[in-house]
Parts: sequence; C-alpha cells; structure tokens
Amino acid sequence: MTLRTIENKDLSLILNWRNHPEVRKNMINQHIITQEEHYQWYLNIKNDPTRQWLIYEFELGNPVGVIYFTDIKNEAASWGFYMSANAPKGMGTIMLNEALNYYFITKKMKKLHSEVLKANSKSIHLHHKFGFKNAQNLRNTDIELFQLSKFFLFNNDWSHIKEKLEEEVKIKKTLILSQLV
Ligand SMILES: CC(C)(COP(=O)(O)OP(=O)(O)OC[C@H]1O[C@@H](n2cnc3c(N)ncnc32)[C@H](O)[C@@H]1OP(=O)(O)O)[C@@H](O)C(=O)NCCC(=O)NCCS
Repeated sequence: MTLRTIENKDLSLILNWRNHPEVRKNMINQHIITQEEHYQWYLNIKNDPTRQWLIYEFELGNPVGVIYFTDIKNEAASWGFYMSANAPKGMGTIMLNEALNYYFITKKMKKLHSEVLKANSKSIHLHHKFGFKNAQNLRNTDIELFQLSKFFLFNNDWSHIKEKLEEEVKIKKTLILSQLV
C-alpha cells in the first residue's frame, strides 16, 4: 500500500477517473476535461510547491485513487480525492486514512481544510467519520453558501481519531484482500 507522487504514466488513468460521471458530479468544476487541458494542468502542478498530487496503490503497481493537497502554506492545506469507479467498497476509507497519516504524521502539517458539495452525502459522511468539524463561512459567495459545506481538521484531533478508526480500517483491508485472492 503506497501513496506516491503522480507521474506522466498515470495521466490517462487519472483523466478517466476524473471524467467518470460519478466523480464529475461531485466536483465543483463539472465539465468534461479534455486531454490537452489535462496535460497542461499536469505541467502547471508538477513543480508547484503549493500543490501536491498523490496516487494511491492498494497493491503495488495497481493504482485505485488520487488525493491532492492544494494551497499548501503555513503548515496548512486543502484536500480533495477521488477513486476509480471500480474500486471495492471500503477502499475510500483505507485511502483517506493513509492520506491523513501521511499529511499529519509524516509531513507534520497542522491543519487541513476541505470543501464538499452539500449533495455529496457520502463524502460528508466520510469527513465526519474522520473527525472533521464544520467550518463557518465568513465571506460567502452564493455557491459557498448554498452548495458547499466547509470542514477542517487539526493534527491534534487526528492523533486521537486515527486510534479509534484503526480496527475499522484493519477489517476493511482484510475484507478487500480476501476478495482479491
Ligand atoms: C468519496 C469516495 C473516495 C469514497 O470511496 P468509497 O470506497 O465509496 O468509500 P468507503 O466505501 O470506504 O466509504 C463510504 C462511506 O460512505 C457511506 N455512504 C455510502 N453512500 C452514502 C450516501 N449516499 N450518504 C451517506 N453515506 C454514504 C458508506 O456507508 C461508507 O460509510 P461507512 O464505511 O462508515 O459505513 C468515492 O466514492 C469517490 O471517489 N467519489 C467521487 C469523488 C468524490 O466525491 N470526492 C470527494 C469530493 S469532496
């Protein structure tokens, strides 16, 4: 199980995941992304220290989803994520757990922000499960006010929540591994 920086060879796979209707409908930007746009985007993010894109491999050499951290500054960032529509149930929990450990434990970041479309009840459920708290909207545009839920999570809170989730993550990993055999 690995989180690694995305590379050229991952681009077409990621574009397929990103343009899948189940992913697209949960993104703020919902238009179909062209290959040209996608490659230009990769050139932009590749050497940008404020953005980090990671791919998650549950089994070595078998990517299942992406996690991204943006607006990285002052030990804080925002995140987002999506998975292959074919990923087995439970994989999201495993990937997000891995990403939060990377962010808070390995990178020692202090705070993580998130914005989720209010209609995305699955993601909202996952944010609550991972201990995120609702953030207040201070300066609201219409889309923020009516369509977005904002969340945040602090490093100190994650260290407690990760212990509570350990058993659940272990069971989900075992179940998925047993289905792969
Ligand atoms: C979000 C995503 C990564 C989750 O992956 P996943 O493998 O389905 O996640 P899991 O199966 O581990 O967890 C889903 C959880 O949501 C719950 N759930 C499923 N459908 C739900 C719904 N309609 N409303 C509320 N909760 C729901 C499941 O019961 C499960 O919770 P539990 O494990 O506590 O029982 C994946 O669905 C995805 O890529 N979605 C599209 C992109 C997206 O929404 N990204 C987030 C943008 S903020």
